[in-house]
Amino acid sequence: MENRKKIGVLDTGIGGFTVVKELRKLLPNESIVYYGDNRNCPYGNKDKKEILQLTFNMLDFLKERKVKLVAIACNTISALIEDYKDKYEFPILDIITPTTEYVLDEGIDEVGILATAFTIKSQSYQKKLLSGNRKIRITAEPSANLAALVDSGEFGSDQIKETVGYHLDNLTREKEISQLILACTHYPIVEDVFNTQAPGIRIINPAYHLAKKVEQVLKDNNMIESHKETEAVVDIFTTGNADIYKKVIKKLNMNDQVSINSI
Ligand code: DGL
Repeated sequence: MENRKKIGVLDTGIGGFTVVKELRKLLPNESIVYYGDNRNCPYGNKDKKEILQLTFNMLDFLKERKVKLVAIACNTISALIEDYKDKYEFPILDIITPTTEYVLDEGIDEVGILATAFTIKSQSYQKKLLSGNRKIRITAEPSANLAALVDSGEFGSDQIKETVGYHLDNLTREKEISQLILACTHYPIVEDVFNTQAPGIRIINPAYHLAKKVEQVLKDNNMIESHKETEAVVDIFTTGNADIYKKVIKKLNMNDQVSINSI
């Protein structure tokens, strides 16, 4: 298998940087090419046809850059994995499968899911969880605007705090929940807001589980980068404002050298 190729990561905006952060920790020798379609964010309120069109654009772009694997950081796009995963010669990994595998492996029997309207409506999380444990109690809550608010880069805004509070109220109205999947890559960027408002709820961050899956697939296919002498790089391509990436890198306490390119 070919080494020295980059890992592709795609997202509708800055949210996928939660996955980049975990990848950098787990696989420090791997270079990453990141595509953030900030101009078209949020996808979560769009229809399937439009989401797929935009996704194929991103995958084609990453194919041109000769990536060895693509990690779909976005939950919304991951809900459509069956529509594109076999159309490219490189492996494409979604974020929903490893996250639901984790929940099932841990024997978690009640969980909240906060995600975009599209992800919740697709039932992707719910179906996977219920097929592994038909007794699992799921409370699912869609958010129409939290991803876009986070993508604006105003991480400490009152609007974000109020929106998180609103969703936590909805999630806990019927019954308390002890664990919550932040099932949109943008949400863990403001995990501190969730922790402040709901200190008793354990947050499950899908980014970590996708990064572990990437590591496993690279290992299984002998595709791990072993050249330590060259510095791994993170190349960002965004259809939006490059400055937002500086903000998210700071917010996530990352100190990686990155190149940011507007496309
Ligand atoms: N970050 C994406 C996700 O994980 C969605 C944000 C959006 O709606 O574009 O679902």
